[in-house]
Order: sequence, then C-alpha cells, then structure tokens
Amino acid sequence: MTNADPAKLAAAKNAVARISDGMKIGMGTGSTASIAIRVLAERINAEGIKVVGAPSSFASERLARSLGIPTVPVSALGQLDLSFDGADEVSPSLDLIKGRGAAHTREKIIACSSSEFIVLVDDSKLVERLGEKSPVPVEVLPMAVEFVNEQLRKLGGRPELRMGKSKDGPVVSDQGMWIVDTHFDSIIDPAALDRSIKSIPGVLDHGLFIGMATAVLVGKSNGTVKVLTK
Ligand code: A5P
Repeated sequence: MTNADPAKLAAAKNAVARISDGMKIGMGTGSTASIAIRVLAERINAEGIKVVGAPSSFASERLARSLGIPTVPVSALGQLDLSFDGADEVSPSLDLIKGRGAAHTREKIIACSSSEFIVLVDDSKLVERLGEKSPVPVEVLPMAVEFVNEQLRKLGGRPELRMGKSKDGPVVSDQGMWIVDTHFDSIIDPAALDRSIKSIPGVLDHGLFIGMATAVLVGKSNGTVKVLTK
C-alpha cells in the first residue's frame, strides 16, 4: 500500500482496526473505500480473521474478490455489523453528500443496514454547509429524466445529466439508471431536500445521506486520525 494517499490510508486503517472476527461488513465504493478494502484483505491474510463483505458496486465487488475477500449481496446478509465508505462532503452535523462514483443508491442501502456506518475522509471533504463544493447526484429512470429535471429545478437545483468519459452518452449506473448531478447554491435544510427529491416519481435515490454516519474518521497526511461523532 506504499502508493496510497497517506490521509486516506490513515482513515482506512483506523476503520479496519474496528473489524472483529466473524463480522458482516459493508464495503463502500471510491478511492478511499478501495484503500480500506485492500487494508482489510491484508488483515485477513495476516491474522486469518473470517469476515464476509457486502459490496456497494460492481467495482468494489471485483476488487474484493480479486483480493480473496468473500462477498455476498447485502440482501443475503441481513443486518451488517460495520460498513465503511468515503464521502464527497461532510457537514458539521455529519450529514453527507455521496455519489461521485454513481454508487450512492447501493451505498445507502448498505449504510442503513449497518449497526455502524463509518465514513472515511480527509480534511478536503469537510464543509460548513452541504452543496458548497459538490452537486447532489440523483439516480433517475432514463425515461423520466426530463420530468425529474423539471422537478429538481422547482426545488432550486440546476440539474446536469452526467456524461460518460470513455463512453458516448450518459453514465449508466450499476442499476441501469442515469445520474443527474444537481447543483444547489445553498442547502439550508438537507433533511427537507432529502425528502423532496426522494418523493419525485422516477427518482431511484440520491446522494444526500442524512443522519446515517455513526462516525466520521478524518485522516491526516501525518498518519493521525480525528474521530468525529455526534
Ligand atoms: C461513490 O459513488 C461515492 O459515493 C464515493 O464513496 C465518494 O464519492 C467518495 O469517493 P472518494 O473516496 O474517491 O473521494
């Protein structure tokens, strides 16, 4: 793990140290969650602990399997003991924006299935108010995208269909949906926006994670970790 970002690695190691033999683990998606998956594989190899992991994306499933971590769909595991994941923004009340990697729908199912949902970030993800830096990704049924965009505008958002980088046309999620990145100038009431977006017909889910994190681990480049809890 010599080339891993030191702040992300510090947070990942702290999270993986909380895992015990026999636990059912939720595994997030993204650069930070990937480091944690690699650290978990190292612990399994070094200590022989037995865990089973529920991945939040095809990407994390492939990574975990390639490293020998047993994976099972979250629906087969029921209540998970602990999940780890990254985030795009973390507010002072530990609400989150997630979904830069378009995995937020499965990530939210995993977060809500877990007794402990541990979020791994560096300082750059901490914001005073959600929406400062990142749009809210909304996962949408393709045939409903124009209707959903209109409703998002009525909520004060500026929706933008996420386009592929190595593919022509829209990004297609693991569920076969499209992603509408929605910029809000200021999210004053994240819980109200959460409910409003969720209630739009054609929306599968979105990247606001309200009241879900049990702890946020802020890794520093010197290897230390600040633990934020409510
Ligand atoms: C995946 O869809 C996202 O929710 C990621 O977990 C989030 O964007 C954080 O990713 P990084 O750890 O790569 O910053």
